[in-house]
Formats: sequence, structure tokens, C-alpha cells
Amino acid sequence: MIELAILDGDQARQRIPELAFILQDCVAKGASVSFMNPFSLAEAIGYFTDIAEAVALQEIILFAAIENGRAVGTVQLHPVAKPNQPHRAEIAKMLVHSAHRRQGIGQKLLELAEIEAKKRGYTLLTLDTASGEAERLYSRVGYKKAGTIPNFALWPDGGYCDTVFYYKLIND
Ligand SMILES: CC(C)(COP(=O)(O)OP(=O)(O)OC[C@H]1O[C@@H](n2cnc3c(N)ncnc32)[C@H](O)[C@@H]1OP(=O)(O)O)[C@@H](O)C(=O)NCCC(=O)NCCS
Repeated sequence: MIELAILDGDQARQRIPELAFILQDCVAKGASVSFMNPFSLAEAIGYFTDIAEAVALQEIILFAAIENGRAVGTVQLHPVAKPNQPHRAEIAKMLVHSAHRRQGIGQKLLELAEIEAKKRGYTLLTLDTASGEAERLYSRVGYKKAGTIPNFALWPDGGYCDTVFYYKLIND
């Protein structure tokens, strides 16, 4: 049974080890999400410690999928801090632990992020992703492909990967 949650600053701090465990697993399994292998749990904890602080400062909205009391998936909504883009937020760090994939958790997290974005008045969501399986997920929930930049980033074990930019207008 999966429960979805929007974490406040304190809840984010409490779940740092669980969130870091998910991130470390995703990078170890080859996800291009900013980090290179070897990527330690301590580094992942450092990343989510910063994110929890940003959540506490209300700079980031953090979502978690929780199974048996433990986070197994997560995604973030980053409102764009530019005066001319108050209507846009970015979807970031869409991560589901490899042992919990293909159960609809990724889709449910994206759907919740969109509901929350609408509630907060955002009308445009954007994201970028390494080309691959995440693309099918984004397309399935209605994101449109804007284009691909070749050699944008590196895979965590080396070698260039293309990055695909997606958007979704949510002003209906
Ligand atoms: C991309 C990612 C988030 C998807 O998470 P997920 O929870 O597996 O996503 P979903 O379960 O919603 O969808 C994945 C697949 O499972 C299928 N699925 C969903 N529920 C299912 C079920 N009950 N039974 C069988 N299959 C199911 C979906 O149809 C989808 O199939 P497809 O990929 O062949 O189209 C996950 O693979 C991941 O964390 N990857 C590494 C990190 C990453 O690359 N993140 C994106 C960077 S921006």
C-alpha cells in the first residue's frame, strides 16, 4: 500500500536517510541525475540535507511515496525564482528505488506534483531528463517533448548522454 505525501521541512529532515538511499540506488543503477559513480550514501545524504533546508525555507516542494512507513520514491517541484517566470515550476529528481519500480509510483508522484502545482497557481511545468525510460513516463502523463540536446550530461559511469526537455501546460 503506497501513501503519497508532501513533506514539510521537519518531515524532510527525518526522511533524509531514506531519500538518500533511493538516490544512491538510482545513481548506482545508472540514472543520470547530476551525480557520478562511485556515489556514496554520505554524498546522497549531503544532497538531501540541502534539499530539506530548501524545503524548510519553502524554496522547494518535496513529495514522497511511502510504503510501510519508508520512502521508496520521490520527486521535487522547484518554483522558478525569476521575476518574469512566476507561473513556471520545474519537476526535478524523479526517483523511484529500483526494487519498487513498475507499480505506478512514478506516475502517482508526478500526478500529485501537478495537482499541487495547480493549487499554487503554476501554469507551466518543465523538466529535463536523460533520454530513456523516464521519457515514457513523462509522455504518459501528458508532457510534450520540446527537444533534445546531444551530449548534455554524462552517464554516472561515464560517456555522454543526451538530455530531453519536456513541458506541460497545466492552465486548464
Ligand atoms: C523513471 C522512473 C522514475 C519510473 O518510476 P516507476 O515508479 O517505475 O514509474 P511507473 O511505475 O509509473 O511507470 C513505469 C512503467 O511501469 C508500468 N507499470 C505501472 N504500473 C504497473 C503495474 N501495476 N504492473 C505492471 N507495470 C506497471 C508503466 O506502464 C510503465 O511502463 P513503460 O515504462 O513500459 O511505459 C524510475 O524508473 C527511476 O527512478 N529511474 C531512475 C531515475 C531516473 O531516471 N529519473 C528520471 C530523471 S529526470
